[in-house]
Amino acid sequence: MSFPPRSEYLSAVWADGIFANRVLFITGGAGSIGSAQTRAFVRLGGNACIIGRNVQKTEAAAKEIAKIRDGARVLGLGGVDVRSFDALKAAADRCVKELGSIDFVIAGAAGNFIAPISGLSPNAFKAVIEIDTIGTFNTIKATIPYLIESASQNPNPNSSGTTGGRFLSVSATFHYTGMPLQAHVSAAKAAIDSLMGSVALEYGPYGITANSVAPGGIEGTEGMERLASSAISREDQTKSVPSGRWGSLRDIADATVFLFSDAGNYVNGTTLVVDGAAWRRQGGA
Ligand code: HXC
Repeated sequence: MSFPPRSEYLSAVWADGIFANRVLFITGGAGSIGSAQTRAFVRLGGNACIIGRNVQKTEAAAKEIAKIRDGARVLGLGGVDVRSFDALKAAADRCVKELGSIDFVIAGAAGNFIAPISGLSPNAFKAVIEIDTIGTFNTIKATIPYLIESASQNPNPNSSGTTGGRFLSVSATFHYTGMPLQAHVSAAKAAIDSLMGSVALEYGPYGITANSVAPGGIEGTEGMERLASSAISREDQTKSVPSGRWGSLRDIADATVFLFSDAGNYVNGTTLVVDGAAWRRQGGA
């Protein structure tokens, strides 16, 4: 297996090959955060199955990510809406048929738009709850039998000590304080965090972990583009982050690799906030 040189998408601290012989199943894997997570996983030896609604975008992302490492296998399954359990189940089965297993799962598919409650129709609120919360539930439900199988091999981790059987959802920090114009997303992500806690309790005894990563403002994402177009100046927005900078896709990739690596195997039922402490100033201070 030969690896291209490490670049800005992943920090240098992770050993090559830690995800060898492991498979990642990720919804929303063609989005900016999902692609960064998948790229890191594949770069470190794993194969991946990317699920998305848009066929062209999903297949193109899979092709691009596969280039990161010689011999990488990245399957792009487009036309799958996470609101359909049956579609997700078929995608999970196909992933196992083609790549051999599902060892890691990221529920990353999300819907978002900026709107006040007065501008949210009941159907708009419901759409986001269905994509984010129910989509996360469907993803867990469709893949849990495969994760149980993967985790049962825990006594025999690969040569890097990496064990399978890990869930990760992509959350947010809005619900810690409440967030104007994001009532729908805030409610959806609160439910996701709660769901991951229950998964950790029910499936911890199987050797499975279930956590969330909660990104703050991350440069190079759709969310940041929307924020950047708001009335508040870029400089004032940056000043509001205690760490003095916005996050990068690499920050999220590194957090994901930590949680999936042998170093993260006792972290369970929690949320790793990657936001430079920004949420502590949400709504003032
Ligand atoms: C108010 C809106 C709206 C808007 C859509 N709706 N956009 N309401 N303001 N800007 C309403 C519609 O009018 C409709 O209600 C309902 O939402 C459902 O819309 P549909 O288009 O029929 O649904 P669907 O095709 O399923 O689209 C779902 C979606 C869409 C969430 C609305 O935006 C989407 O698919 N997004 C996926 C990609 C995405 O947003 N990714 C963002 C990830 S970034 P009615 O009543 O008319 O039927 C992220 C972090 C961002 O999550 C952080 C930003 C600060």
